[in-house]
Parts: sequence; structure tokens; C-alpha cells
Amino acid sequence: MTSPPSVVTVENLEKRYGSFIAVSDVSFHVDEGEIFGILGPNGAGKTTTVESLQGLRSIEGGEVSVLGFDPRKHAAEIRRRIGSQLQESALPDRMKVWEALDLFGALRAGGRDWKDLLADWGLAKKADARFGSLSGGQQQRLFVALALANDPQLVFLDEMTTGLDPASRRVAWELIRRIRERGTTVVLVTHLMDEAETLCDRLVVVDSGTVVAEGSPQGLIERYGGGVRVRFTHDGDGLSWLGDVPHVTNVDRDRNRYEVRGEGPVLAYVAAALVERGIAPVDLRQERATLEDVFLALTNEETE
Ligand SMILES: Nc1ncnc2c1ncn2[C@@H]1O[C@H](COP(=O)(O)OP(=O)(O)O)[C@@H](O)[C@H]1O
Ligand SMILES: [Mg+2]
Repeated sequence: MTSPPSVVTVENLEKRYGSFIAVSDVSFHVDEGEIFGILGPNGAGKTTTVESLQGLRSIEGGEVSVLGFDPRKHAAEIRRRIGSQLQESALPDRMKVWEALDLFGALRAGGRDWKDLLADWGLAKKADARFGSLSGGQQQRLFVALALANDPQLVFLDEMTTGLDPASRRVAWELIRRIRERGTTVVLVTHLMDEAETLCDRLVVVDSGTVVAEGSPQGLIERYGGGVRVRFTHDGDGLSWLGDVPHVTNVDRDRNRYEVRGEGPVLAYVAAALVERGIAPVDLRQERATLEDVFLALTNEETE
């Protein structure tokens, strides 16, 4: 299998604001057709990175290529070929949907047929509606339609779901999947770990202007998720012998709640050891680590 071509390559990107280094060393590549995530806490340098890729920021160091163009020299070429989603609701309430499409170039030659575009996103009957009269979901779909107005090969979505309620976030996730299904590569910037885990094929975790990990969500979880966690409750004596059970690396107890960490077949060994001692907790279970565990392990924001 040949791997698809990279649509974005970033090597040792460095970006300063005055003497402040916002991005000190960021490298990654995005393959055609994937949803690629840039995950990190607020202030990590995510927006700075994607704005640099779009030619919206000067770049102090590194090599960057977007769709084969260098944003330092060919920002206009890049912007013609990419889509970028609006941050928050940046349209005036009184603006009509078709006027917004016009503003974004969808009505000009070269863009997709704007009626198809509206139909694709469930807005066929809304061309004459004012932005302010649309429901939240319709506004969201309009932003997606606008980002796709120039039929881009690549879209940058920066914190697209921040501030949305949980139901609207689910809808937005479906929209993002649909963008990709239609053949557009997606670079998704988010500080939401469940969002990155759910949507991204691959991602980089960025912290303080550097990449601290790269991989698929599952790969990162296996590598940094801290192994397997087994939980159960048990009233009565402390189970001090648990630490000696094969494959167990750590035991935590909070009153009657136990959390046993380990690797490989630790669940089977813990279960057998419990049963051997006449203990059969009905809630014995193995929990999957999440990207959140990876994130916390890698970015260690909290000082203990
Ligand atoms: N225009 C700017 N001038 C000075 N500092 C900035 C500017 N934009 C962002 N920063 C700083 O750069 C760092 C990275 O910001 P940003 O890229 O917006 O992070 P993120 O998107 O990951 O939250 C932050 O410390 C932020 O305060
Ligand atoms: Mg940001």
C-alpha cells in the first residue's frame, strides 16, 4: 500500500511575538484525506501554528509546505485552495445567507454551485433568510458551507465546537466527518480530548509551543495511557496482597473503591486472586484509558 501524499508538512516551525516564543518547535505532516488533530491546552500555540500555515502570520523559523506552497511566499495561492472556519458567530444578524455566500466567494466563478452547497448542508430554503433568524444548528451548518465555499482541498477548523452545548457538538462532529467523506482533508484544532479521540485519524499533542507526542488516538493511549486499569469495590479489610499479584504495578484505594493498575492480562490475574480468597466483586471491571489520560500524562498542567 502506498501512503497518500502529504498535503501539509511542517518541520521545526518557530513563531515569536516580539521576544515571546509562542511556537518553539513544531513538526508534523498531514496526509490527504485524513482528519488530523492539533490537541493541546489553551495557550499551547495551536492557533498560532495553523495561522502560520495559512499565511496569516510571519514565521521565524522552520520549513512549511501547504498543498505544495510555502506560506511565506505564496499565501494567496494557499488561501485560494483552503477553507477556514469562522471563529464564533462572525456574521451580522441582518445579513442574508446568499449575501454571506457572496462575501465568501461562493457566488463567483470557480466556486461550487452555491445552490448545491446550500442543499448539501440542509439550507436549500434559507438563501434569503437572515443570519439572525437561523437556528443554532443552521448557523453552524452555514459556517461549514462557507468554509467549503471555494471547494477547498483542505480545511482548518479551529475550536469549531468550543462553546457549543453537548447536542450541538455531536451535530458538529457529524458535519466534520461529512466534510472528510466528501474528500476534503481536515486539520482540526481542539483542546477537547474526547473530540480529538472521536474524530482524528492522527494527531499531535502540543504543549508550550512544542509537540510532545504524535500518533493515532489508540496508539497514543497504548503508549502513554498508563496501562490497564482494573476497578472494583470491596468492603472490609484492606487487600494488601494485591500488589503482589502478577502484572499488577500499582494499587490505589479510596475507602472501599480500588483501582489496580497493571499491564496485559492483569484483569484475569486480579479476578483469580480475588476469587481464590472468596471475594467476588460484582462491579469488577477493566477500564480503558482515554486520550485524557495521555494528555494529562504528557502535559502535566497540574502541579501536585
Ligand atoms: N498576537 C499575539 N501577540 C502576542 N502573543 C500572542 C499573540 N497571539 C497569541 N499569543 C500568545 O502565544 C501563545 C500561543 O497562543 P495560541 O496560538 O493562541 O494558543 P492556543 O491556540 O493553543 O490556545 C499564548 O501564550 C498567547 O498568549
Ligand atoms: Mg487557539
